[in-house]
Amino acid sequence: MTTTVSSESALPLPEFDQYAGSYADYLDDPLRGRFASDPLHFHRRKWMLIQSMLKRADMDPARSRWLDVGCGQGSLLEVAGKHFSHASGCDPSAGMLSSCASFSVRAQASPVALPYEDHSVDFVTSVCVYHHVHGEDRTLLTSEIRRVLAPGGLYCIVEHNPWNPATQIIVGRCAVDVDAELLSAPSAGRLLEASGFELLRTSYFLYLPEKLFSRFGAMESALERVPLGGQYALLGRAPA
Ligand SMILES: C[S@@+](CC[C@H](N)C(=O)[O-])C[C@H]1O[C@@H](n2cnc3c(N)ncnc32)[C@H](O)[C@@H]1O
Repeated sequence: MTTTVSSESALPLPEFDQYAGSYADYLDDPLRGRFASDPLHFHRRKWMLIQSMLKRADMDPARSRWLDVGCGQGSLLEVAGKHFSHASGCDPSAGMLSSCASFSVRAQASPVALPYEDHSVDFVTSVCVYHHVHGEDRTLLTSEIRRVLAPGGLYCIVEHNPWNPATQIIVGRCAVDVDAELLSAPSAGRLLEASGFELLRTSYFLYLPEKLFSRFGAMESALERVPLGGQYALLGRAPA
């Protein structure tokens, strides 16, 4: 594991350091548990969606360098990392990163600066990150993501959908989300476009609980334009 630790010790500790030791317990919720008994289901489902988006956008993961911004404990990297030529993650919380044993991860010294070279990756994800980023920092983080992406590179934002009532209930009572400011897919799309990305696709997902998804998963694809899924994913392309 590559961990770059901030030298600015006067800064407050990153918010998620306080949750890192018992993160799974903090996420535990009866409604969420009824939706999927295995928390990895959510990450597998995201990877299925991301895979189909990359295919449509003509990007081959096996030939692409992927960076997961705000990777937390690295669950998506665990599920999908092996499909990329290189997979890495970063997060302001060194506590969260301490669980990412098998991937190259770096701590962000600032919430709006990424410890990577210009144009050094082909694909970036940020999963459930923006609702913890506030005000102008959202724009600064998005511009920073564009900086590290190669020309024509792809960026996928996954977020909670504020228009889904179950999502609102779960977020409303989750201690980790005490500061959460959910953003709708159209707001996330405007954020992408303001940083120069071309918005390629918006897909809503997480309509069906895990048990039904295994039998009727195709139904979710049919509903991807209906803005009521538990979460949504947006795909943008950086200028060539
Ligand atoms: C809800 S967790 C999601 C973690 C992971 N992406 C996942 O889906 O399991 C939010 C993560 O975003 C990180 N985060 C908060 N602000 C950030 C920022 N400005 N840049 C990158 N990551 C940030 C937090 O430290 C935390 O690990």
